[in-house]
Amino acid sequence: MAHLFNRNIVLGVTGGIAAYKSAELVRQLQELGADVRVIMTRGAREFITPLTLQALSGRPVHTELLDPDAELGMGHIELARWADLLLIAPATADLLARLAAGRADDLLTTVALATAAPRLLAPAMNQQMWRDPATTANVATLTERGFHMIGPAAGEQACGDIGPGRMEQPAVIAQAAAALFSSGLLAGRRVLITAGPTREALDPVRYLSNHSSGKMGFALAQAATDAGAHTTLVSGPVHLSTPDHVHRIDVQSAEDMLRECLALAPSCDIFIACAAVADYRPADVAAQKIKKGAERITLELQRNPDILATVSASPGAPFTVGFAAETNDVLTYARGKLEHKGLDMIVANDVSNTAIGFNSEHNAVTVLWRSGSRQLEQASKSVIARELIALIAAQLDSNHD
Ligand code: C5P
Repeated sequence: MAHLFNRNIVLGVTGGIAAYKSAELVRQLQELGADVRVIMTRGAREFITPLTLQALSGRPVHTELLDPDAELGMGHIELARWADLLLIAPATADLLARLAAGRADDLLTTVALATAAPRLLAPAMNQQMWRDPATTANVATLTERGFHMIGPAAGEQACGDIGPGRMEQPAVIAQAAAALFSSGLLAGRRVLITAGPTREALDPVRYLSNHSSGKMGFALAQAATDAGAHTTLVSGPVHLSTPDHVHRIDVQSAEDMLRECLALAPSCDIFIACAAVADYRPADVAAQKIKKGAERITLELQRNPDILATVSASPGAPFTVGFAAETNDVLTYARGKLEHKGLDMIVANDVSNTAIGFNSEHNAVTVLWRSGSRQLEQASKSVIARELIALIAAQLDSNHD
């Protein structure tokens, strides 16, 4: 079923009797996963109060174009940029006329002009107004300019007339909104990703770690979210900002990372282990800073748990994807890891090539699964991430066939 996870919707409400149905529409959009902000025209506020839509959307309702306070919060350009979709329901005959004329005489029409997002209109008006050649011409103009239309439906009208002009039902409008976005390869899936290095404490001020930047894991989190997934990123210490709509959990050590992953994995469909987990940690963490003294000291190390292998062996394990950074016999070692870690897929990269991999912006990988493989040529980590997500989605679907 189509959904609106991770989608920001600006819902424009104009002044028609169907405005009361906009309250239900907010709920329907939210149920499909959308984050909704409402713009009301002056006419809309004659039919339904902003308070109702504020309470339902959980956000202040936007009403004024030239309101210094509102502009400080989220002005018309920010709203236009924030939107993944501008949905106007109900869209009155007057609104259609103003849009067709390219007017920007209130907040809603200004946002409609200023946004690059798709625009979907749900007309609602008296059947004679809908049939009027002026309205027909406006609808034709708007359709030609790329506006999408849903409805109107036909039937008995609030004014007593019978004919076309009723606003479509909120559930139908919400589904039409969802259908505008490509279904999303991982629509509604839950994805858990580890990223970055781990830090293994030696004493209160020192640790063992590695040079992992976390870029590949963060790019995967972005790509999974773009594909419609609910994404959780369990990250070691990195200097990267969290992609929009990704839930990030920061950890330090391998043991912390394992704890978080074991707690989250049972509710996930996909687990991607991208972190460069330290294989060993100091066997004892000194309570006080270790003082320098002897010329040579010995550090005893304890093997860390293998997070990937532990998750893949856990009951009800998600579709599990690992990485294999190798310097020689890349494919042989990678296939070995696929088998002995019990994985569904492994992403192998040759780290002897310094142009790719650790800390680089680029990567080139070979992806292996039990019945096949695919080479992904050198590209930015975000392009590789998108290709990987597509491969994972395809394998996940074929597993379920
Ligand atoms: O065995 P190796 O370290 O080469 O395996 C790499 C893969 O295993 C990566 O996907 C890495 O995130 C994961 N891994 C892990 N926990 C460890 C070591 C590696 O999850 N302790």
